[in-house]
Amino acid sequence: MLCNASDLSWLTEAPDWTEEDEIVDRHPVDDPRAVHEKLHRLREFGLLIAENSEAANMDSIYCASWKLDRAAAFQHFLAMDSPFISTEASTRSQIEQAKIDPSPDLFWPNNSGPIHLPCADLSGGAPILDVMKRRRTNRCGLPRPVTLNQLADCLWAGLGITGFVRTEASVLPLKMTPSGGARNPFEAFLIARNVEGLDPGVYHYAAIGHSLGLVNADYSPSFSELLAGQEWADTMQVLVVLVASLNRTAWKYKDANAYRVVLIEAGHIGQNMMLACTNNELTACPTAALAHSRLRTLFGIESLADVPMYAIAIGHPGVDPDEVIPVEDFLNKGWKPGAMPELP
Ligand SMILES: Cc1cc2nc3c(=O)[nH]c(=O)nc-3n(C[C@H](O)[C@H](O)[C@H](O)COP(=O)(O)O)c2cc1C
Repeated sequence: MLCNASDLSWLTEAPDWTEEDEIVDRHPVDDPRAVHEKLHRLREFGLLIAENSEAANMDSIYCASWKLDRAAAFQHFLAMDSPFISTEASTRSQIEQAKIDPSPDLFWPNNSGPIHLPCADLSGGAPILDVMKRRRTNRCGLPRPVTLNQLADCLWAGLGITGFVRTEASVLPLKMTPSGGARNPFEAFLIARNVEGLDPGVYHYAAIGHSLGLVNADYSPSFSELLAGQEWADTMQVLVVLVASLNRTAWKYKDANAYRVVLIEAGHIGQNMMLACTNNELTACPTAALAHSRLRTLFGIESLADVPMYAIAIGHPGVDPDEVIPVEDFLNKGWKPGAMPELP
């Protein structure tokens, strides 16, 4: 169904609650049935809302709780609970697309006169680089518990408070990851399925005090149900979900870029959590394919501006079906990055 551009001018007719008949009366030359029909279509598109309807209720909640720019709201709400396709369907679609629209190069080489850089020394001098190099998404978890210490490391690396800074405007928490304006918008909830020393259930991690609080002893949905049907997640033992409290950032930054700032921070926090897991010989699998509404209900989240954004499923790595091809082998084979190589 298409919304005619000229129909949009009707949106200016009723900036506040207005009787439909009053709008019809304002247009004596138009056929009243056609006007009712237009208003009906605008309601169907969600562009015009009726008083006391569910949409009106949602609108008043939105106005009361959403503090970021309206452009950010479009991006945000369009992505809520969006459907995700299976890995198989995605693979088929990529193979078909490559036939008519080859993938762009996935990296840009320096072709002329490259200045070769010294390789990272991983022989004991730089353990952090070694941990970074070993991080891998392994979607095949072993049925073995994660320990409370391992989980604590992960949460601490991502969200632990390491101190405070006093500015002219306020006192702000500092963490191991950078945060725009030190507004630190993220909280973590976790679903412990099999953690040694912790009853199964849903918990909130409080960065202040570095503690867990039980939110819900029942976590009946499986991890895959909370992660758009991704069955590999059911082989994991803990699911950590990063929830952005958008109004913390919006309090200081009100432009659309603030939403980007929050997304960028999810990446920083997620990476630190994953590195802490790697350091403990665990696999940590990131995913943004979330059943947002189910997670909100599970965590008891009420504000529209508190948003599950990113999840990390943690477990012990089993045999990973994804073979890692060494860089030298890739170069020797003369493959093109992103393209589907000819199989032998
Ligand atoms: C923001 C983000 C979202 C991701 N979402 C998914 C996902 O929904 N499902 C999944 O299996 N992997 C997901 N991944 C993991 C990537 O597929 C994975 O990082 C990539 O294949 C490279 O493998 P590596 O993590 O071992 O380097 C996501 C990664 C990122 C950074």
